[in-house]
Amino acid sequence: MYIILLGAPGAGKGTQAAYVAQELNLIHIATGDLFRQAVEQGTELGMEAKSYMEKGILGPDEITIRMVLERISAPDGESGVIFDGFPRNLKQAEALDEALAQQDKAIDKVVYIKVSEEELLKRLSGRWICRNCQAPYNAINSPPKVWGKCDRCGGELYQRPDDTPPVIKQRLQVYFHETAPLIDFYTQAGKLLEVSGEGSIDEMGKRIITALGEGN
Ligand code: AP5
Repeated sequence: MYIILLGAPGAGKGTQAAYVAQELNLIHIATGDLFRQAVEQGTELGMEAKSYMEKGILGPDEITIRMVLERISAPDGESGVIFDGFPRNLKQAEALDEALAQQDKAIDKVVYIKVSEEELLKRLSGRWICRNCQAPYNAINSPPKVWGKCDRCGGELYQRPDDTPPVIKQRLQVYFHETAPLIDFYTQAGKLLEVSGEGSIDEMGKRIITALGEGN
């Protein structure tokens, strides 16, 4: 099964992708996490990625597409994948379709998580992330049991440098301009499932699993 989670920054893609991956035994591929790992490791890609992430703009398509295609061609990618933060524009979507078609595979469903702009801003400004396993928390909605420490692995929690008001604004603009057109693209392909992203994290998770079950 190949699933895409589509939605604005802060819609809950990372939170739900981790849950759905566990429930359906899929590999979770998050391009934002791959870029942040490269930044942490101080690689050449990481130094480049840092500059566009800090500005809230997208990285080059060629690099992003190559990174994802390498990851899905690994043996564990055979059992199915949930994509989080990829594709981000038409070029990436078409490259993914083409690469999967070469292996006689295709995207099964695209879950579009719809959240109001007001709620997105609240979620992003309260977000804390584990430096070690990338689990997301929220100061208001889903705080960790011990402040500053990840419930899952005990790692240190930090705030993303792109979760500041001006960069959030830029990321939302990029989303509406470059990524939102994919809603039409996947609707026309008959693959889009729209799910409300309002409500608790648990409710949302159940809604997505139900929608995927009904969509088959
Ligand atoms: P990326 O890391 O993909 O960021 P994003 O798309 O902006 O999405 P976020 O991670 O901010 O939000 P999310 O939807 O995952 O929400 P989350 O679950 O964390 O990309 C970062 C950058 O990398 C880009 O700007 C770009 O530069 C680069 N990049 C990445 N992919 C790229 C690509 N394909 N091409 C080119 N460049 C790329 O939840 C948010 C908060 O809300 C958390 O605190 C969470 O606890 C909370 N929350 C979640 N659900 C709920 C709920 N139901 N109720 C209350 N709170 C909730």
